[in-house]
Amino acid sequence: MRSGVIFGVLAALLAFPDALALKANDFKTCSKSGFCRRGRALSARAQEAQASWKSPYSLDPSSVSISPDEATVKASVKSSLYPDIKFGLELRIHDDGVVRVIMDEVDGLRKRYNEAAEWALVAEPKMSKTISWTAGKKDLRAVYGEKKNIQIVVSYDPLRVTLLRNGKEQIVLNGRGLLHMEHFRSKTVKETSEEVASDSSGEGQEVLQVENVRAWFEGESEDDWWEETFSSWTDSKPKGPESLSLDISFPNHGNVYGIPQHATNLSLPSTTGDDAPYSDPYRLYNADVFEYLASSSMSLYGSIPVMHAHSADSTVGVFNAVGSETWIDISYPTKKSTHTHWISESGIMDVFLLPGPTPEQIFTQYARLTGTTALPPHWSLGYHQCRWNYVSSDDVRTVQRRFDEEDMPVDVFWLDIEYAEDHKYFIWDSKTFPDPVKMTDDVAAIGRKMVVIVDPHLKRTDSYPIYKEASDMDILVKPKSGEGEYEGWCWSGSSSWIDHFNPASWDWWISKFKTNKIDTGFSWTQSTEDIHIWNDMNEPSIFNGPEITMPKDSIHYGGWEHRDVHNINGMLFHDNTAQAIRFRGDVPKRPFVLTRSFYAGSQRISAMWTGDNLGTWEHMAVGIKMVLANGIAGMTFAGADVGGFFGNPEPEMLIRWYQVGIFSPFFRAHAHIDTKRREPFLLEEPYKSIVRDILRLRYTMLPIWYTAFRENSVTGLPIVRPHYVMFPKDPVGFAIDDQFFIGSSGILVKPITEKEITETTVYLPDDQVYYDYFTHYAYRGSSQGNYVTVRAELHQIPVFIRGGSILPTRERPRRSSPLMKHDPFTLRVALSKSGTARGELYLDDGVTYSHQQGELVWREFVAEPSAKTTRISSKDLASANPSQTVDGVMLETYNPKNAFVKEIEEVRVEKVVVLGLSNKPKSVKVENGAELYWEYIPGVPASDKKEGTSSVLHIKDPKVIVTEDWAIVIS
Ligand code: NOJ
Repeated sequence: MRSGVIFGVLAALLAFPDALALKANDFKTCSKSGFCRRGRALSARAQEAQASWKSPYSLDPSSVSISPDEATVKASVKSSLYPDIKFGLELRIHDDGVVRVIMDEVDGLRKRYNEAAEWALVAEPKMSKTISWTAGKKDLRAVYGEKKNIQIVVSYDPLRVTLLRNGKEQIVLNGRGLLHMEHFRSKTVKETSEEVASDSSGEGQEVLQVENVRAWFEGESEDDWWEETFSSWTDSKPKGPESLSLDISFPNHGNVYGIPQHATNLSLPSTTGDDAPYSDPYRLYNADVFEYLASSSMSLYGSIPVMHAHSADSTVGVFNAVGSETWIDISYPTKKSTHTHWISESGIMDVFLLPGPTPEQIFTQYARLTGTTALPPHWSLGYHQCRWNYVSSDDVRTVQRRFDEEDMPVDVFWLDIEYAEDHKYFIWDSKTFPDPVKMTDDVAAIGRKMVVIVDPHLKRTDSYPIYKEASDMDILVKPKSGEGEYEGWCWSGSSSWIDHFNPASWDWWISKFKTNKIDTGFSWTQSTEDIHIWNDMNEPSIFNGPEITMPKDSIHYGGWEHRDVHNINGMLFHDNTAQAIRFRGDVPKRPFVLTRSFYAGSQRISAMWTGDNLGTWEHMAVGIKMVLANGIAGMTFAGADVGGFFGNPEPEMLIRWYQVGIFSPFFRAHAHIDTKRREPFLLEEPYKSIVRDILRLRYTMLPIWYTAFRENSVTGLPIVRPHYVMFPKDPVGFAIDDQFFIGSSGILVKPITEKEITETTVYLPDDQVYYDYFTHYAYRGSSQGNYVTVRAELHQIPVFIRGGSILPTRERPRRSSPLMKHDPFTLRVALSKSGTARGELYLDDGVTYSHQQGELVWREFVAEPSAKTTRISSKDLASANPSQTVDGVMLETYNPKNAFVKEIEEVRVEKVVVLGLSNKPKSVKVENGAELYWEYIPGVPASDKKEGTSSVLHIKDPKVIVTEDWAIVIS
């Protein structure tokens, strides 16, 4: 390692010892957070009071007003404890049945933060046109849905909002009476009881009485209302108490999922009650948690307040659009119902109820609100090689050469913070990276890319143009005084942070990434369009800040405090970076931006990773669950550091980690600066060959991954899918989170995440045949579900193809994915027990936005049996479904002879493998064509009940073209 790097790291470690060791004490527990404590105490009082507990909030029936289109209803709400304080409630019903419930204080002393949804939503939701509300004596109701079976009921006193389906309660707000919107108030000096006793005016007595009346609900003390200290920090809380407590219950739903990011099981363990695995609520407060635990309800780097509640006959969801710190208690009062309690530090109530009733519909409903992941650049689905740090351009070149020498595919080389002089991002350290453009061109010569880190902390020195310009423009976050620049410590020493909430920062930030010289200020001429960006530390991580982040009383654009927007902050940074990459050249190109911090909506344009995991088996296992949980909340382009960020994994662990990695949407190896080099070419045999095969398998399956991304871009369905999403009626699968499916492809994977394993059990959820991907051994599921034992030696990954699937793959080993562009396809036709199969393939140029103009290929492959023949055909799906082709873009018409089709018109199917045929064929032909060359290996047919190696028909080079319609007839 070069001395500059050593010095930089040592300096950082000396300056920020906090960055060195895990300290749970660096972070608050609920009991150390004033508003969380207040929220939990409220819940405890309610529990104690049991039936006599009644929410003080009620709706005034005389205030109800219904909009002319009837989709929106507004009313006044009061709390009996504060008769002078006014609240407004608003319910909006969207055209897809989603119900938005908004509550805010009206004419309050101050304004509650109300912009979280604006940042999260992709567009203004469309209102229902068919709704009609009826205001009755006790409640207000509306009936809707295609079958008129959904009902939303707003009960007046106490206020309660209930979503019912077929007369059954699905989602209930304030059913447990924990709603409490702390109104703004002025700070008064409380008199002591002695002072009150000696006060002859009687006013003091009155105040005391009112306070006693309120105490049953709010508690007796003004617990941390006006100031709060944690460790050595004091939060000045100039607005006083303003938290929001809300209970959301899911009667009839016994599992909840989502609210990433936490290192925990997918089906969320409870946090209250004697047997609760966690004693603290799930916390959403974007935080840089050093050496995080592999099982905990603690906050991590990103927050998406989205939850699914699920049972065998229903799935519903909520999206609670809040940007401030939020804690969520979960309990399961019965096996079939769930209570949740959300406590947020500030902001209005803005909750979206997603009526489902299937997981698929929940994804679509949430995607319509916050958007889907735009199709990423195709190369970004390849293998990413990262470490902290590749220390020089020659180091990068050597690593690239070694991959090539070992015939290991890789698409992207990454540079961590040490490329930048004094951690001034964009500014190359000229001693070690004297030729960044040439280096990038060398990498790009075979279609590869570079990803370079740009962190949000700006070194406070006028010689750093990025800081200087931002400072001159006055677009940096301000300290609590509202004047000047907030200053904190990060890798670059004394630093400031751009306030991306300030619109003036947007175009400016975008201009910094231009690869050509711009008229005013800095632009990144020392870069090329082959460089993409990694946004790290954007929670933001601040080594000397409270809980390693920004003080909550720092000030953002519009005068909002950091506390109001903390969880949204990181999203704005990566979002603006992605826009910058998209528009930096003459032709817009798809950006790749990796972010550590994220919020609802982050999925639209960025990938995420699970941060600084440990090189342990537990972390490897929980990484899978975390990736699944992120997908539940829309953030589907996700992965964990392969190999573990910290530690030096032994070869066995590294190999297993690669096996996990190739089945993650985002696949990157990364390692801490103190770890030994562990690029896969450094392994000894047989490990090296095993990893080579693993990498190649990822590349073989790229068409499957890319096709799954297309589907996600339209439907919001995650790329990797847990059992409850695929088989929502099968209760056995509700808690399964160590095996999962890839898109709609029919691939089921169970990566091994334990030491010294040679076999494992896999759950097969339905009465279908499941073929081992590699050996073609046919396993049988059953209608009650079925566990099978499969081999899982170190070189083996349990991967199955569900009967009924057709998988397109590209089997020629290449050094990088762009080199595969003209490679032929293999189709694996895995017949179902009834002899059918179906699959899809989506292709486009993988780089530009021409796909949004219809330059793409979207095919459907179908295998159908009929009287002793099986016909396998390919048809054009894009022509049949122009409105749902990709990226949610409506194509007016689709031209099957578009420019992309022409570009790959030579690309053919070179092999078809049919699994599970019942008999040896007599003939295999392209329809109306000559006999093909084929070979049949007898084995167990798909229609059989027994296990065994399945029959396999290999059809060699049928010479059919992938962009054309064709059929192969097996008779
Ligand atoms: C923290 C990130 O999580 C890690 O991946 C990175 O290597 C270091 N910051 C240094 O940039």
